[in-house]
Amino acid sequence: MMITTKRGGTSSALLLILLLFIAVPLGANTLIRPIPKHIDADMEKVKLGKKLFFDPILSKDGTISCATCHNLQEGGDDGARFSSGIEGKKGSINSPTVYNSTFNFRQFWNGRARDLKEQVKGPVKNPVEMAHSLEEVAEKLKKEKEYATAFGAIYSDGVTPENISDAIAEFEKALITPDSPFDRYLRGEKDAITPEAKKGYQLFVSKGCIICHHGVNIGGNFFNKFGIFHDANSSDMGRYEITGREEDKYVFKVPSLRNIEQTAPYMHDGRAKTLRQAVELMSQYQLGRDMLPEEIDAIVAFLRSLTAPIPPLAK
Ligand code: HEC
Ligand code: HEC
Repeated sequence: MMITTKRGGTSSALLLILLLFIAVPLGANTLIRPIPKHIDADMEKVKLGKKLFFDPILSKDGTISCATCHNLQEGGDDGARFSSGIEGKKGSINSPTVYNSTFNFRQFWNGRARDLKEQVKGPVKNPVEMAHSLEEVAEKLKKEKEYATAFGAIYSDGVTPENISDAIAEFEKALITPDSPFDRYLRGEKDAITPEAKKGYQLFVSKGCIICHHGVNIGGNFFNKFGIFHDANSSDMGRYEITGREEDKYVFKVPSLRNIEQTAPYMHDGRAKTLRQAVELMSQYQLGRDMLPEEIDAIVAFLRSLTAPIPPLAK
């Protein structure tokens, strides 16, 4: 899929229509897949990674942990437009959820980290997040008996920056949320979602949302331009900031819609306060169409059916 270019509205529109023809007959079952009930993970690493995820020792002044901005009880994000890091410093981009991030093809809105392991360095180093370095964190952890022992039992070289990332990434890999009503519906439980959610799902497919939001994460598997039919007036340039290529301006990773009800506000800059606003905005900016209020309501009902129970690992 490549609706990512700076090409004019007409060719984008043509491409969208073309993709719709492909998408609709395929039917949704092939385009959205349920989250697997289990994922293979090294449980010793997961345990260690979980401890690290909740430990503010990762930040320079010992006040901020990963969980500060990724609250596992509330959707895996922080519910704020922009996150506050060390000394109350504010970032300029919305915190995404860590749940199901293992299914994303890249990490971060602009995809600058290839995988979860590479991602960990980002927040630890970021001056407005944890303002630290994994090297310094490793030195601190070596002095903590419990950590030294736990690392020693898993890794032959004990506490190292590499192993810290590895353990945290393994924990995140295990943070999946199977069994949303919609997944149960896909697996054959016909009454797992309401008739309105079913209608919303049909609209999600027939109106074209599915063109960009599909796969196991209903997103997270390719990049696309934010603002195809209308200029999104975004101050963040997206992938352009990494590649410097004109065609990457305002191109972001299409976000996952899993548990989306729990991660307001929406968009990379948190501009949409409610799910309704987010759907209206998508409809206008990405599809160039206005939807009826009842259509939006139905899509919102569908999106709410994507909320899964909090997995035992997060508790
Ligand atoms: C001060 C708040 C803050 C802290 C602390 C923080 N994060 Fe984040 N996290 C964010 C923000 C904001 C983004 C989005 C940044 C971007 O895309 O440029 C993000 C992005 C991510 C992503 C990418 C998800 C995706 O869909 O692209 C993962 C995974 C993640 N963080 C995990 C972690 C881990 C692990 C830690 C601890 C080592 C951590 N975060 C600490 C705010 C924070
Ligand atoms: C052409 C691709 C495309 C289409 C079609 C599309 N989206 Fe999106 N969607 C995106 C991108 C890209 C973003 C991220 C925008 C940004 O930069 O903040 C996004 C963001 C979202 C978000 C916010 C996610 C979050 O975590 O903040 C929601 C909700 C959403 N889309 C729902 C929909 C719905 C519903 C439809 C159909 C009406 C739709 N999308 C159609 C590409 C698309």
